[in-house]
Amino acid sequence: MVRNPIYPTPFLRGRSPMNSSSDILSIGPTEATLNALSSTSPAGESFPLPSPEDYPREFERLQQLVQEQRELGREIVVVMGLGFVGAVMAGVVADSVDRTTGKPSKFVIGMQRPSVRSYWKIPLFNRGVAPVEAEDPEVVPLISRCVNEKKTLTATFTEDALSLADVVVVDVQCDYFKECLGNVREGHAEIAALEDSLRVIGEKIQPECLVLIETTVPPGTTEYIAYPIIKKAFEKRGLTDAEPLLSHSFERVMPGREYVASIRDFWRVCSGINETARERVRKFLSEILNVEKYPLTVLDRPIESETCKIVENSYRATLLAFLDEWSLFAERNGVDLIKVINAIKMRPTHSNMIFPGPGIGGYCLPKDGGLGVWAYRTLMGFEDDIFKITPAAIDINDTRALHAAELVRDALRNMSKIVAASKIAILGASYREDVGDTRYSGSEILVRKLTEMGGEIAVHDPYVQHWWEFEKQETYPAVGHSWSRFFRNQEKLNELRIQQDLETVLKGADAVVLAVRHQLYLTLTPDEIVRMAGRPIAVVDCFGILDDEKIQRFFELGCEVKGLGRGHVKRIKDRVKRV
Ligand SMILES: NC(=O)c1ccc[n+]([C@@H]2O[C@H](COP(=O)([O-])OP(=O)(O)OC[C@H]3O[C@@H](n4cnc5c(N)ncnc54)[C@H](O)[C@@H]3O)[C@@H](O)[C@H]2O)c1
Repeated sequence: MVRNPIYPTPFLRGRSPMNSSSDILSIGPTEATLNALSSTSPAGESFPLPSPEDYPREFERLQQLVQEQRELGREIVVVMGLGFVGAVMAGVVADSVDRTTGKPSKFVIGMQRPSVRSYWKIPLFNRGVAPVEAEDPEVVPLISRCVNEKKTLTATFTEDALSLADVVVVDVQCDYFKECLGNVREGHAEIAALEDSLRVIGEKIQPECLVLIETTVPPGTTEYIAYPIIKKAFEKRGLTDAEPLLSHSFERVMPGREYVASIRDFWRVCSGINETARERVRKFLSEILNVEKYPLTVLDRPIESETCKIVENSYRATLLAFLDEWSLFAERNGVDLIKVINAIKMRPTHSNMIFPGPGIGGYCLPKDGGLGVWAYRTLMGFEDDIFKITPAAIDINDTRALHAAELVRDALRNMSKIVAASKIAILGASYREDVGDTRYSGSEILVRKLTEMGGEIAVHDPYVQHWWEFEKQETYPAVGHSWSRFFRNQEKLNELRIQQDLETVLKGADAVVLAVRHQLYLTLTPDEIVRMAGRPIAVVDCFGILDDEKIQRFFELGCEVKGLGRGHVKRIKDRVKRV
């Protein structure tokens, strides 16, 4: 299943997704005059953007702070990019202590560019407020403690902060732009934001500063892209003999309740461009992470560390994609794939098998393999086609939700209804259980496909307040990047609102899709669902949520049931019919 954009957007190709100037240009003139001067937080608080005269003042503030911190013997670390990863990484570094004295040994400056989209993060950060929403209760006190009590953390908008750094940690985004849905090869790495960051680094840092790239990058980036950019910038500054101290160590951070621990208390891989950089990055990470319990792996070259990230995520994406064909096999041949997987998992060697829901989602798995395939051609210059499995896995995962929509159609059909005349309740918007992260979730594709078919959609998710992929689909995740471009009839979806009241979402629904394994949905009973709907309902289980008892009860209540990989429901239906 391959889908090209319904509305081609060739003029947008190759543009940085978070380009701040394009953000400003994309809004109407009156609004632009007002908004270009301020940046609004998700909670609705507006902050004026810094004016040219604010820059020297801000730099003076930082110089003063840095002087005080150096007197305390602390190393100065600039974290570039206060997004999901950078904000928490900045907190982890600022919270670390010298193992012998027990005192803080690092002062962290979080640096975020002052765009309309992102500037608000800086003033909030400086109040001690975390600029990212996280289910992990450790995030909020971590940022507050480091800013307000330990005073080891501040945030800034000025790139001049880089000139004060002993270490720069790069946590800016590097996206992969797909030209069509279901063919990842038709796409490219959006490396412009990273290249911009590297150029500024080359212009500002001291030559002995360690640069640690944490961004997930196309393999080869540190040596093929970062090194030449920084080396040339050094030469331009007359630093002809200086060798950039570049290193790479990717993040394995996992959204959810263990967010902070997934940075600090987790195994890391790193590498440096030369012996000095390798040793410096090993020392730096050993000082901030729990390496006694989670030992560090030091690889020879940055390309090995970069490849490590891409391979581990492609491996995971492949295992999930592999089950898609067996899921279809199961549906068509009376097999319950959930029971099959559980039986296989009894074998310790196969215990990490997981059932794919209506898609894979998250920020990393849908794009990382694409970065690898792109690098092989573009950075390394190979013309042959060695990649078969990695792109196929991404394509399968990206389009799995289209089949979930087919199941909704078929379940409704068995109740003599059609999607176009039905209200469909989607339970779960995020990409995995018990988190509020909606990036590239299977539920998004499901909503888009069912809307294309004319269905009326209502969505519930206990962890998500705003589904920005819909509410701001013209500009989120960036102008021209919304998945809406692959479907028709999407215009009104910017009115879609997540509801927290299950009764409202289910009331009058013709179909309900159990799309995510949120704790709340595991305990719902068929009787409750039918009572809230007010009538028998078509039920589609995308994640092996229903056990046989519940499936049977739905049939007894006059409902229809279908599920991804759940071929045995027909047997249960026949049994109920016979009674
Ligand atoms: N989010 C995850 O779950 C996760 C997990 C593992 C790895 N990663 C990787 O970590 C990296 C960062 O991801 P993220 O989720 O934090 O992205 P993000 O988009 O949330 O954050 C990136 C931030 O960098 C800022 N930025 C961009 N250019 C800048 C510049 N020149 N100067 C200062 N700031 C700049 C952006 O404004 C944004 O705030 C990516 O490579 C991603 O693949 C993410």
